[in-house]
Amino acid sequence: MPEFPRGFRWGAATAAFQIEGATTADGRGPSIWDTFTAEPGRVIDGSNALVAADSYRRHHDDVDLLAELGATDYRFSISWPRVQPGGSGPANVAGLDHYERVVDALAEAGIAPLATLYHWDLPQPLEDAGGWLVRDTAERYAEYVGLVLDRLGDRVGRWITLNEPAMTTLEGYALGTQAPGRTLMLGALPTVHHQLLGHGLAVAAIRAASGTAEVGITNNHTLVVPASDDPGDLVAAGAFDVVYNRIFVDPLLTGAYPDLSAFGLESFPGLESGDLGVIAAPLDFYGVNSYNPTYVAAPAEGSEFALAGLPFEPAAPPAGTPVTGFDWPVVPEAFAELLVGLRRDYGDALPPIVITENGASYADEVVPGGNGGRSVHDHERIAYLDGHVRAVADAIGRGVDVRGYFVWSLVDNFEWAQGYTQRFGLVHVDFETGERTRKDSFDWYRRVIAEQRG
Ligand code: FCB
Repeated sequence: MPEFPRGFRWGAATAAFQIEGATTADGRGPSIWDTFTAEPGRVIDGSNALVAADSYRRHHDDVDLLAELGATDYRFSISWPRVQPGGSGPANVAGLDHYERVVDALAEAGIAPLATLYHWDLPQPLEDAGGWLVRDTAERYAEYVGLVLDRLGDRVGRWITLNEPAMTTLEGYALGTQAPGRTLMLGALPTVHHQLLGHGLAVAAIRAASGTAEVGITNNHTLVVPASDDPGDLVAAGAFDVVYNRIFVDPLLTGAYPDLSAFGLESFPGLESGDLGVIAAPLDFYGVNSYNPTYVAAPAEGSEFALAGLPFEPAAPPAGTPVTGFDWPVVPEAFAELLVGLRRDYGDALPPIVITENGASYADEVVPGGNGGRSVHDHERIAYLDGHVRAVADAIGRGVDVRGYFVWSLVDNFEWAQGYTQRFGLVHVDFETGERTRKDSFDWYRRVIAEQRG
């Protein structure tokens, strides 16, 4: 493994709804994901997150695992419906107590917290009032962030405002494959603006509460690869890049939305004067989640994409490309290209990057052996992670300022609409008993971190 810069952060990531369980404990209110998972047919295996990885109760186990890993940092998320069960009004002290316990346990283990303030679990009452389609949700979000900072601002130094607003818009409101399950297609665009506005207002709230806090956002990015050099495919790839990547990053780093004329739009839905200045507030770091490149072609005549008025459709990866359990193509070079491309496209406007998620799901099997009598030989995950960590080193060598890398995920967890069918953890979780088993990838990562930290 190439040598990373001194001080590089090595961590693992999780999200509240995916690991905590205990969805009614200590006054937590319902979120859109509780509602969504309760609706028949929404989650592929019919499962829910009532227990998940049981981390609300077992957070000490998770911190012990991080300590054993030698992680410098832990990225976890704070559940809005635990802190503000109805999405507005005063804080639920018992909900905040939980995160204080997590943060204190991390401090004791010498691990720095990187707290995500919103990882998709919108309080249901706010969805009932319009969710991210309405501007008020941005204001409510900033108010919630203020409550968290009041309590934890003295002991959490780094904050991520939103996780992957693109997925909330595209899967949650446009296609309906994730909560809240709306199928509004282009009608989902106001949710882009209201999330980014919420982000900007939250940055201001965090800065007001703490003079030293570092703030960033996490966007998911994919390198968009045209299926061929055919001009139609090039145009399609450009349009996909706009909806997946650029509408979520341009306003943050350039203070403007990209041109949406390919979608028949002249101005951005929801935008009001002054908003872009709020959204483009300076950031201390830029969080990048990335898993795979996306191959895109011009929509075939009469295809469902063409009929829906979309100027692109997905294409197959080159023959022979390995795929993960999710069927995501494994192309580490594309990860380096993505990072180099961000630097090329945004130049000095791009803050230092932190890779806030990267990893892979595979059909892991627990077999006898190893220390605890149980092992998981996940060599494909090791190959994936090894390739992608090297790709980060490659990007750094090519001039991209990357400061940290977080594996998704510390533990197997509830993979949204895929339920428990996709395991991403460095640590296997038995979802019947909660038992944790370190996979071989855990040992691989522990060795990488030890070598890099000297
Ligand atoms: C990302 C999400 C994360 C997890 C991974 C696999 O899009 O942020 O919660 O589900 O994908």
